Amino acid sequence: MRIIGTKQDLNIEIELLKANKKSIGFVPTMGALHAGHIALVERAVAENDCCIVSIFVNPTQFNNLIDLEKYPRDLDRDAQMLESIGCQLIFAPEASEIYTTDELTGSFDFDFGGLDSVMEGKFRPGHFNGVVQIVSKLFRLIQPDKAYFGEKDFQQLAIIHRMVNIMHFDINIIDCQIVRDESGLAMSSRNERLTEEQHKKAVEISKVLFESRNFVPKMSPDNLNKWVIEQINVFPELNVEYFDIVHSETLQTINSWTSPAVGCIAVFCGEVRLIDNIRYN
Ligand code: PAF
Repeated sequence: MRIIGTKQDLNIEIELLKANKKSIGFVPTMGALHAGHIALVERAVAENDCCIVSIFVNPTQFNNLIDLEKYPRDLDRDAQMLESIGCQLIFAPEASEIYTTDELTGSFDFDFGGLDSVMEGKFRPGHFNGVVQIVSKLFRLIQPDKAYFGEKDFQQLAIIHRMVNIMHFDINIIDCQIVRDESGLAMSSRNERLTEEQHKKAVEISKVLFESRNFVPKMSPDNLNKWVIEQINVFPELNVEYFDIVHSETLQTINSWTSPAVGCIAVFCGEVRLIDNIRYN
C-alpha cells in the first residue's frame, strides 16, 4: 500500500491504473477510521481492482473552528488499518495541496435545489458547500468507477447524488448501510470523544429511533417527531438539536406516511454532536 500526498504523484498512479483498464473504488474520509469506514473500504476492495482511500480533514466544511481543531487525526493508525484490509493507495494531502488561498477563504457555489436548507444544512451553514467542493475535487483527481458513502450522513449522500447528476460525473455512487456498535450507537469518529458515561447515554438516541418505528402509521409524522424529541431530551446529558421526518429524496418534511420517510436527528451529548437516522418505510 502506498501513501501519497501530492496531486502529481496521485496523477501518475491514476494514469497507470487507467492505462491498464483497472477499475477504481474510492472511499473519501477524514481519517479517524472506525468500523463504519472499514465496511466501506472492504466493499470497495471486493468490488474493484484498486481501492483508493482519501484521508483529508477538509477545513472548508467546518463552520466551527473548535470542531476542526478537535477532529481526531492519526494517519499511522489509519494506514495500518487500511493496509490490513487490502486498500492499495491512500491519498493524504495537506490543505495547501488541495486549495488555493482564495478557495480556502472564499465561497463555493452549488445549486443544491433546496437539499441544503434543512437539517444539517440549516444548523451548519456552508457545511455542504465545503463537502461538494472537496468531493468534486477528489472525484476529478481520482476518477473512480465507484465511490462509497455511508448512510449515516443521509443528507450528505442525497447531495452527493445530486452533485454527480448536475456535474455529470460518470461515477456509480454506492450507498452503504449504517454500521452500529453492539449497543446500537451509530459508528462515528466523534464517538471517540465521548466519556464512558456519555457513551451510555448516547445509546438512548438509537434506542428511541428504533422504538419510534412501532408508532408508524398510528401516530402522525408531526406527533412522532415531538415524541422522539421528548424521549431523548428526558436525559439531561442529551440535547436534541433537530429531529426531522423527511422525504428520503427531497429531504422536505412530510405530513403523512405516504412518502418514503426517514427520520434524521442531531443530538448534543455534552459537547459532542452526534447524528443518526432511521428509515420508516
Ligand atoms: O463524510 C465525510 O467524512 C466527509 O464529509 C467527506 C465525504 C470525506 C468529505 O470531506
